[in-house]
Amino acid sequence: MSYIESVLHENRSFPPNDEFQERANVSGLDAYHALCARAEADYEQHWAALARENIAWHQPFTRILDESNAPFYRWFDDGVLNVSYNCIDRHLPTRAAQTALIFEADDGAVTRLTYQQLHDEVCAFANGLKALKVRRGDRVIIYMPMGPQAIVAMQACARIGAIHSVVFGGFSAKSLCERIIDAQARIVVTADGGLRGGKTIPLKAAVDEAIALAGTDAIDRVIVYQRANAPVAWQEGRDIWWHDCVHGMSTSCEPEWMNAEDPLFILYTSGSTGTPKGVQHSSAGYLLGAMLSMHWVFDAKADTDVFWCTADVGWITGHTYVAYGPLAMGMTQVIFEGIPTYPDAGRFWRMIQNHRVTTFYTAPTAIRSLMKAGVDLPTQYDLSSLRLLGTVGEPINPQAWMWFYQTVGHARCPIVDTWWQTETGAHMIAPLPGAIATKPGSCTRPLPGILTDIVDELGTALTSDQGGYLVIKRPFPSLLRTLWNDPERFKRVYFPAQLGGTTYLTGDSAHRDEEGYYWIMGRIDDVLNVSGHRLGTMEIESALAAHPLVAEAAVVGKPHDIKGEAIVAFVVLKGACPEGESAGEVAAVLRAWIAQQIGAIAKPDDFRFGDNLPKTRSGKIMRRLLRSLACGAAIEQDISTLENPAVLAQLKSTA
Ligand code: WTA
Repeated sequence: MSYIESVLHENRSFPPNDEFQERANVSGLDAYHALCARAEADYEQHWAALARENIAWHQPFTRILDESNAPFYRWFDDGVLNVSYNCIDRHLPTRAAQTALIFEADDGAVTRLTYQQLHDEVCAFANGLKALKVRRGDRVIIYMPMGPQAIVAMQACARIGAIHSVVFGGFSAKSLCERIIDAQARIVVTADGGLRGGKTIPLKAAVDEAIALAGTDAIDRVIVYQRANAPVAWQEGRDIWWHDCVHGMSTSCEPEWMNAEDPLFILYTSGSTGTPKGVQHSSAGYLLGAMLSMHWVFDAKADTDVFWCTADVGWITGHTYVAYGPLAMGMTQVIFEGIPTYPDAGRFWRMIQNHRVTTFYTAPTAIRSLMKAGVDLPTQYDLSSLRLLGTVGEPINPQAWMWFYQTVGHARCPIVDTWWQTETGAHMIAPLPGAIATKPGSCTRPLPGILTDIVDELGTALTSDQGGYLVIKRPFPSLLRTLWNDPERFKRVYFPAQLGGTTYLTGDSAHRDEEGYYWIMGRIDDVLNVSGHRLGTMEIESALAAHPLVAEAAVVGKPHDIKGEAIVAFVVLKGACPEGESAGEVAAVLRAWIAQQIGAIAKPDDFRFGDNLPKTRSGKIMRRLLRSLACGAAIEQDISTLENPAVLAQLKSTA
């Protein structure tokens, strides 16, 4: 038996190492239990004390939690603050000359920005936005490549009280258009193009197309950062270069003093229906979640750490652990424009070596693909600066965990497997590395004050080791406040009546072992997790059904070595069922269509064509059966109620 196998076989746990036991922000299990006990003894005071200690308030709050209009909870709601002030200005007396951002471009060029320089850039851009008549409460769409300007744009919005909605640069013009319309935004901030893996991704062109789809008067101004020297079409009066927008602008800008509950941003994410949900976060509660998790889970040490979270700012991870959290803590962080495999699969390890990264946070999917690209590759680099590793976005399989632990962390660095969601704003279940022993594959225990539980569909708590719905029993500050434009959906999806209307339903299933450790099992709804990205099956199905060739489509996930989950589409065409080469051709057409409708991340891996889909006599698509077919498993379901059993043979072959 290999070392890895024996560890997994023994279900071994890894206690905090000496360094963390002695010097972590929270050291020892007793300290963790004491924090949890404080939260249980007086829930509101626990959060109030943390909010007072961590946030720089312009005017302190006197009210803590308002539950009178549950589940529309309000926290610290007479407090006044500015999030950008908390991320930048508050550090200037002590850290003006400290590096805030180390930016490594796709081509390897490195630029640095101190806290003072970041302040000046944020203020100039904030003044530029104001000159374009962007006001408090206005929505600003940010569709940018990964780089300092994306962060500057987000911070500038926060500074003037505008609500940003970042759209990942990999989403299509159509997806961008839907978000522009739903958010009723009048301003888009973009770049001519993005650079990734040596290729240019045209962003401005997608914005033009999105506006054309939305109706030409949907948007007043498009601010374009010149990044890639990509050719762009130009609409005078609407389009303005970033450098012209900031030209001559003052580098000071008084922050707009915001109410604790004023929305900081909207971020769209997939749910179980065809339309993405606009998750709306507050200012103070969100900031508090970001700061506490940086302190507890990442053991943030502003003077000595170099923090690197590899997520794009288009996702929640890039909001909380790139654009806000590390800055609020006064840290130095690395941000990266490119991809892990360009120019070669040593890129991440080389960057850790060159920038002396101490804390490295990435997705299991990246770990699995880099492991495949070279099991021994990390050993060619000096990774001795690392002290803490983290993962996010999907369950990490124990084999990948062990590789990360041994080959990247040299069995020295704890791994924090962090479970959380766009909706929770910050980590919910994750180890405090100085207090909690880790186990490969488990996200361990909830953070102090996060009252998680596992229940059945009626809300009854389940005992140890029974799988069930993962819920959070009390509201906490960083939880989403509502869905933009859709409070009813917010109530229905997250606080369902059968659970009493005040328990937050996460949408995940989990089980808890006898030591109280949580193990995430997967989604309970029709949401897929492909390479750590959330995608709704319904979104992909409606996009497929909108293609002129398609009569009907159903989409399911199947396990995938690298991506975690891969997308399989079952399609009935309007014409005859294609076979052989023509099936491949139709599949290629539909893949391109999905890339155009949603984005390349949503392209199905496999297509299965048939004359029909397996349905019950009442006409319901048998999704469980499709899942078995998708992964080639033997069919164990009862198919006696299947109306058309003959289609099964047809749907087995892959295009
Ligand atoms: C999944 C990403 C297992 C989960 C921060 C959740 C995880 C969804 C983990 C949220 C983890 C996230 N272990 N599963 N450590 N972290 N998930 O909104 O299904 O993009 O509900 O937020 O990802 O995805 P989202």
